[in-house]
Amino acid sequence: MTLRLAFLGDVHGNLEALDAVLEDLSGRKVDRVYCLGDLVGYGPDPEEVVKRLKGLNVVSIMGNYDEAVGFSKESCGCSYSPGREEEVGEISLNWTIRYTSDEAKEYLRNLPRKLSFEVEGVRFLLVHGSPLDELFEYVKPDTPTPRLKEIVSSVEEDVVVNGHTHLPMILWVGGKLILNPGSVGRPKDGDPRASYMIVEVRDGIVSYEVVRVPYDVKRTVEKIAERGLPPELGTVLALGRTYNMGSPTVFFSLGL
Ligand SMILES: [Fe+2]
Repeated sequence: MTLRLAFLGDVHGNLEALDAVLEDLSGRKVDRVYCLGDLVGYGPDPEEVVKRLKGLNVVSIMGNYDEAVGFSKESCGCSYSPGREEEVGEISLNWTIRYTSDEAKEYLRNLPRKLSFEVEGVRFLLVHGSPLDELFEYVKPDTPTPRLKEIVSSVEEDVVVNGHTHLPMILWVGGKLILNPGSVGRPKDGDPRASYMIVEVRDGIVSYEVVRVPYDVKRTVEKIAERGLPPELGTVLALGRTYNMGSPTVFFSLGL
């Protein structure tokens, strides 16, 4: 028997990117769709993104930004550089808290911090950050091997699927698999296209594919300007990566 799972995460209030991914998914035979958290933050449409995923009954776990907005916290626990980046992060969080309904906040507050299930004898663990620090730890390709081993040996599952870094990643560690689908709404690997992952389990064998989907970045950047959000948030989307926020001229040189 074959089961196809779609993993998407870090949508970050980017409705154009989410809709492009959902459209792409509709053309593929996928049995289940999971969201790895960070539905909101940075992007101009937090309320609509929550509504869309909730309306489609997409099973989602909690990201650090979901917790911060759901509980109206003062910080998202993100690792910002001091200065303008920190300032932009603070403006984004406050704006998102202000423009998210009580209903959406309640939904975000009640998302589970992890989810475990079994498909065809393969056990999956879904967590936004890491199994040892569910909301905040960044598990990246350059995470030291001893820490990666510590992470995989702490779980019973065979496959850990996470998000948070906005970098797609496929990593085998200690006989276990760590998968990160990258970010739908705020990629940071230099490719501005939305990123998600399809995982197929056939007779206990797992195969995976990272899918990139172009979307109307210009429209999202326009919305960021229309809502009065910092222009740097649009630049990150146009570049598909973070940059030194001391150089805002990049935004204008892109003709956006
Ligand atoms: Fe995120």
